[in-house]
Amino acid sequence: MEKISRTKVVDVLKCTDFGAVVNVKGWVRTHRSSKAVDFIALNDGSTIKNVQVVVDPAKFDENTLKQITTGACISVNGELVESQGAGQTVEIQCREIEVYGLCGSDYPMQKKGQSFEYMRQYAHMRLRTNTFGAVMRIRHNMAIAIHRYFHEHGFFYFHTPLITASDCEGAGQMFQVTTKNLYDLKKDDEGKIIYDDDFFGKQASLTVSGQLEGELGATALGAIYTFGPTFRAENSNTPRHLAEFWMIEPEVAFIDLNGLMDLEEDFIKYCVQWALDKCQDDLEFLNKMVDKTLIERLKSVVADSFVRLPYTEGIRILEEAVAGGRKFEFPVSWGMDLASEHERYLVEEHFRKPVIMTDYPKEIKAFYMKINEDGRTVQGTDVLFPQIGEIIGGSVREENYDKLMGEIEERNIPMKDMWWYLDTRKYGTCPHGGFGLGFERLILFVTGMQNIRDVIPFPRTPKTAEF
Ligand code: 4AD
Ligand code: MG
Repeated sequence: MEKISRTKVVDVLKCTDFGAVVNVKGWVRTHRSSKAVDFIALNDGSTIKNVQVVVDPAKFDENTLKQITTGACISVNGELVESQGAGQTVEIQCREIEVYGLCGSDYPMQKKGQSFEYMRQYAHMRLRTNTFGAVMRIRHNMAIAIHRYFHEHGFFYFHTPLITASDCEGAGQMFQVTTKNLYDLKKDDEGKIIYDDDFFGKQASLTVSGQLEGELGATALGAIYTFGPTFRAENSNTPRHLAEFWMIEPEVAFIDLNGLMDLEEDFIKYCVQWALDKCQDDLEFLNKMVDKTLIERLKSVVADSFVRLPYTEGIRILEEAVAGGRKFEFPVSWGMDLASEHERYLVEEHFRKPVIMTDYPKEIKAFYMKINEDGRTVQGTDVLFPQIGEIIGGSVREENYDKLMGEIEERNIPMKDMWWYLDTRKYGTCPHGGFGLGFERLILFVTGMQNIRDVIPFPRTPKTAEF
């Protein structure tokens, strides 16, 4: 076969250099044969769109053509011609074909319209489908948007450790990291495991959040953000939870509650607008195949102002709804942690737009949140989104040493692990705040996908760590 440098499908489809001979390589999506002509739809992952390869069967070996089935990988040299078919501008009149890899009829992505549950069993192969291609390209674009946003706004990308000895959220949901022989654990007289001889000389775990170290960065560099994997051993088998997920955590010095909410809203809108601008083809595909209201919903999130709602007011609205006959699985009362059904009622039924909820009872929030004058609520902010529920969790931080110590003691958080964190409050403490955006929850929202396992290439959830 003649050697011609490869053109990606995304570029070939934009090309109008008719008559030129090009090379494309990719995986066969469909192959339709007839006596007079064969059509091969070829995709190389660079775009949701396929390029159509038109083959004159008289010019090729019949058996070779027969072998080119869905999933096979081929390289094609051919002439770029204007397309006669609807919905495409160019196609390739095939001159030569090289088969790189055949694909047997047991190829798990053979059939169209398989359920997402089915495809999850083949997470290593589902990437080659239209839907997962679209989701992964959007995921990439969102990562770029996030870095762009913070870079343009003067935030520094700050790398916080993945291995840590402190539980930021205090929820006790950490995966341990150890080199100890688990079959022969040394224990003290009380039966507690001795960690002195472990790799780090103490009990260590995978981080649930980079925030604590992020605060050290922000109180030196002014504004930072982290963007990395976080790990939570919460046994939540829901379409919104992963054991390994990516989180973006900006942290800013001298920001107050209103400033924080402005940042949250501006940041999310920037990311959604980026998707609308840069991922048109993929969004149109998902809008057609997965969720017919997707693009409309994305546009409305960018256009509308988010509602800013104190927790107490939110509870009042929910109580009114209950009085009016609305049924919830979990009862509503001041002091409770909102369940997803409550969050979604507020966002999808009551306000019909995103809600930033603030000023939660301190008992249901983490130790580091700034305590309000009333002594019972804290300056936490959760951003609640249609279809998703909580997409962001953040707060203004308690910068007063004594108040923070009070919380640490009240919650029995081991002090000796926290000394370095407390030093921020001891030496030149400053008002500051930040938040965490769950990356996969953002991707769920932007793609219209229903299950968080379908917006990360290889999901980690209770009892699954395949691939
Ligand atoms: O609300 P969370 O627990 O907040 C924190 O971790 C803070 N330290 C953030 C900060 O202020 N710097 O988590 C933040 C977000 C949630 O709103 C949610 O979007 C996502 O992380 N998240 C999860 N996403 C997928 N799977 C899980 N198990 C998640 N847990 C939280
Ligand atoms: Mg939260």
